[in-house]
Amino acid sequence: MPLVLGIDTSCDDTGVGVVENGRVLANEVESQTALHARFGGVVPEQASREHLSALDAVVERALTSAGVTLDDLDAVAATRGPGLVGALLVGLGYGKALAWGLGIPFVPVHHLEAHIAAAVAGSGQSPPFLCLIASGGHTALFAVHEWNAIEQLGRSRDDAAGEAFDKVARLLGLGYPGGPALAELAERGDDRAVALPQPMRHQEGFDFSFSGLKTAVAITLERNPGLRREDVAASFERTVVDALVDVTRRAMAHAGMDRLVVAGGVAANARLRRTMRAENLEAAFPPLELATDNGAMVALAAERRVDVDRARQEQALRTDAAPYLPLAATGEPSASA
Ligand code: KG4
Ligand code: ZN
Repeated sequence: MPLVLGIDTSCDDTGVGVVENGRVLANEVESQTALHARFGGVVPEQASREHLSALDAVVERALTSAGVTLDDLDAVAATRGPGLVGALLVGLGYGKALAWGLGIPFVPVHHLEAHIAAAVAGSGQSPPFLCLIASGGHTALFAVHEWNAIEQLGRSRDDAAGEAFDKVARLLGLGYPGGPALAELAERGDDRAVALPQPMRHQEGFDFSFSGLKTAVAITLERNPGLRREDVAASFERTVVDALVDVTRRAMAHAGMDRLVVAGGVAANARLRRTMRAENLEAAFPPLELATDNGAMVALAAERRVDVDRARQEQALRTDAAPYLPLAATGEPSASA
């Protein structure tokens, strides 16, 4: 199996990883959180500039920590989308140039496939399985029949699950990005103390919607300023997790799949992991350090795809960044990019 360097600059983290034979040798992430925190969200132009100035050093760090040199690499991979286009272009351009300069294959990778690869790594799991992706930008359910036959069963119609965590965290004064801080606060709260509407309760199909819940939390806080913040956090978190579990379980029954993979930043959430276990859903989760955006997951996804065919290699070098890039069409299996 090849030695692959993977780059992710899809949003606000500069991630570079080195992977060999499904094993992560290095996973370096330079976070831009401090830069964006004062704006309460990611400023795309700032993110691109920061990737540009950080990327070279993060690549160096990843190579050093893996104990390899550029000459040892067999392929270079980078996220081509979806994501912020300016941010994507930095990692994609760098990856293409590096591969071309070294005379080795370049592998463009879909960001969501990389999240799935991270969740599957080390679990021994292989298709077919149902995959729940819950991140800051996406909430989606995929039936992964084979790596090249992925069917989308449902998606977020408005806020993604992680986005809802971040927005409610902001309402609770927890700063940006508030998902992990909210989860920490929720551990000390009573998850039945605050009544909130359960999203998607009476809905058919497998789509998600969390913006109504976020609004309900805002109104509740406005009307009841004396509520304990940890109780609001715990009640909100339970409501999101129950909704994710509920729709996922229905989708598994619909697809006739009994194996589940949970991927994306929200896969780091302890209550989600606990609840899935308690509900007897044996899910593969990514290791915590691979749950949120990173470069190692890009290399893991690329390992399957390294293509030494010359014509296809040249085509890979012409790949453009794609800010909107579906992993699969809705309703029918289709080859992923
Ligand atoms: O996958 P990711 O790093 O970025 C995207 O591709 O969007 O996901 C980041 C999201 C953020 O919204 C963050 O608040 C959320 O994942 N997140 C969490 C936790 N850790 C990260 N949400 C809930 N509980 C956590 N422990
Ligand atoms: Zn992501």
